[in-house]
Amino acid sequence: MLEAKNLCKFYGSVLAVQNVAFTLDPGQVLGYLGPNGSGKSTTVKMLTGLLEPTYGEVTYDGQNIHKDLIAYRKILGYVPEEPNLYPHLTGEEYLDMVGTLRAMPQSRKSTTIASLLELFSLWRHRYVTLGSYSKGMRQKILLIAALMDNPDVLILDEPLSGLDVTSVLIVKSLIQALSAQGKSVFYCSHILEVVEKVCSHLIVLRKGQVLAHGPTSSVRQKIGKDSLEDVFLELVEDADVTQIVSDIVGVVACS
Ligand SMILES: Nc1ncnc2c1ncn2[C@@H]1O[C@H](COP(=O)(O)OP(=O)(O)OP(=O)(O)O)[C@@H](O)[C@H]1O
Ligand SMILES: [Mg+2]
Repeated sequence: MLEAKNLCKFYGSVLAVQNVAFTLDPGQVLGYLGPNGSGKSTTVKMLTGLLEPTYGEVTYDGQNIHKDLIAYRKILGYVPEEPNLYPHLTGEEYLDMVGTLRAMPQSRKSTTIASLLELFSLWRHRYVTLGSYSKGMRQKILLIAALMDNPDVLILDEPLSGLDVTSVLIVKSLIQALSAQGKSVFYCSHILEVVEKVCSHLIVLRKGQVLAHGPTSSVRQKIGKDSLEDVFLELVEDADVTQIVSDIVGVVACS
């Protein structure tokens, strides 16, 4: 079980994440929602061990993840928000490097890479360098890299970014299938319609603080709204969307 205990993160004097606490059990898909700059990716980086919390800790099966980060990373699959891929490597070379770093046995590594490249429609692009991949193709490579070593915990920061309609459907169903197998998924997204479908639990964040936390249906019920979009607007956004749109149209028309 993954546990975030009162996580706080300061960047200089900016408090990006404040007292975030939750548990992520096997089979659970936890949606992490919040507006731009609310602290989602900062939380993700603390969960993956890329950033140390200023206060608080992340534990896996009761042990601080920084005690043995290598062992922790072995059970972790991570799709980052920014794809920092090596542009001169081909898709296949990159995945091979990831598999080697994860110490996957050679034969399992090659067969898994070949199968996943095929299933994500990248087989015929396997010898093309990542620098020439489209945005969606790079995103698929990140997904394959996260999945290929059969991780127990998946941490996904906007995993559907740039994916086409079929791939979105595949990834949504895949998350549900993996959770049914007992995998834990931490799912950061802005796409409320998807979050609503795939997440068993939700955390709504605003300015680094948790506004709501619980099973998806009860978060929705608590606010008395039908759709997650209404819940989100009620809890998080104090903006008048109609007014903002009309002001933008006005500014553009006058420029
Ligand atoms: N490396 C950094 N140095 C300084 N401040 C940072 C850094 N990374 C993030 N921040 C600040 O921390 C806050 C939270 O940023 P974060 O990237 O976690 O938000 P987010 O919820 O992931 O946003 P988005 O939806 O746009 O991806 C913001 O105020 C941001 O400016
Ligand atoms: Mg982010």
